[in-house]
Amino acid sequence: MAVRQDNLWELFLSPIVRSFIDEEKLAKFYHSIDWEKESDRFRQPNLIYPHYYKSQNFHGIEGGGGYLNPGASVTYDPITQYAIPPNETWVRQALIDAIGGQPRTILDLGCGTGSTTLILKQAFPQAQVTGLDLSPYMLFMADYKAKGAGLDIEWRHGLAEATSLPQASFDLVTASLLFHETPPSISEAILKECFRLLVPGGQVIILDGNQKTIRYAEWLTNIFEEPYLKDYAAGSVDAWMGSAGFEAVRTEDVWMVHQITRGIKPLPVQKSHTTNTLEEDMNELENPAFAY
Ligand SMILES: C[S@@+](CC[C@H](N)C(=O)[O-])C[C@H]1O[C@@H](n2cnc3c(N)ncnc32)[C@H](O)[C@@H]1O
Repeated sequence: MAVRQDNLWELFLSPIVRSFIDEEKLAKFYHSIDWEKESDRFRQPNLIYPHYYKSQNFHGIEGGGGYLNPGASVTYDPITQYAIPPNETWVRQALIDAIGGQPRTILDLGCGTGSTTLILKQAFPQAQVTGLDLSPYMLFMADYKAKGAGLDIEWRHGLAEATSLPQASFDLVTASLLFHETPPSISEAILKECFRLLVPGGQVIILDGNQKTIRYAEWLTNIFEEPYLKDYAAGSVDAWMGSAGFEAVRTEDVWMVHQITRGIKPLPVQKSHTTNTLEEDMNELENPAFAY
C-alpha cells in the first residue's frame, strides 16, 4: 500500500497516532487474510467505480481510490477512533439518539467497516439491517466485525446514489461520515435515492462533519487529505435534504465538530374518505404508511 508522505497527517500526526496503534498486530491480521478471495464474497462483478471515487486518494492512501485497497480497511478503525473528537462512541450514539420510533428496516449507506451499522443493529435488534458500500474490502471488515459480535446484518456492494434496491423498502436510511467524501452533486443524488428508498413517513439521518465549523478550518483538508471536504463544507446538507423532498429537516450540532441532519419523507396527502372508493379504503388499511 503506497502512502503519501507529503501531507500534514503523514508528516506530524500519523507518527503520534501510530504510537498508540499496535501495528504489528494489524500487519499480522492483514497478512492472515486472502483479500481477493474474501472480498469476492461481496463483490458485484458488474459494478463500475465512479471517477470521483477511483481517481482520488483518501487519507493519503494511494492506489485506486484509497478504499479500494485492503490495507485501508484494516487501518480504518484504529485511526478513526482518534479522528472523531471528542469520542467516537459518543458521536455515533448521537445518531442513534436522533432516531424516532422503532424502524423495522434500516439501510446504512457508505457503511465502511460497519461501525455505525453494528450499533444500529444493537439498538434495534428486531430490525432487518443492511449496510452498503463501494469497497468490498471495507465490507469484508464490516462482516468480520458483525460475525464477531454475533449480529445478523446483510452487506451489499453498491453505489449509494444508485442502489438498485426496491423503492419504499426502508423505514430508516442513514449515512455516517460519507458526505464529506463525495462531491456535493453526489451527496444530493444520494439524498434523492434515500427519498426513493424510504416508505412515506420514513426518516433519513446524516451524520458528518459540521459544515459551519469546517468552513473556518480549511487546514483540516490538508491534514487528512480529504479531496471533497472544502466543497462539502461550502454546501448545506439541510438544503440538499429539502431539495430532495424531505420535510421537517433539522440539523443539530454534535460537539461543534459534527452535525446530524434528519428529515422525514412526507406522508401522501390524505384524501377525504368520502372521495375514496371502497377499494382505495381497503388498500390503505392493508398498507399503512410507516409513521413516527
Ligand atoms: C469515511 S468512510 C465512512 C464509513 C462509515 N460509514 C463510518 O461511519 O465509519 C466513507 C465510506 O464511504 C464509502 N463510499 C464512498 N462513496 C460511496 C458511494 N458513492 N457509495 C457507497 N459507498 C461509498 C467508502 O468506500 C468508505 O467506506
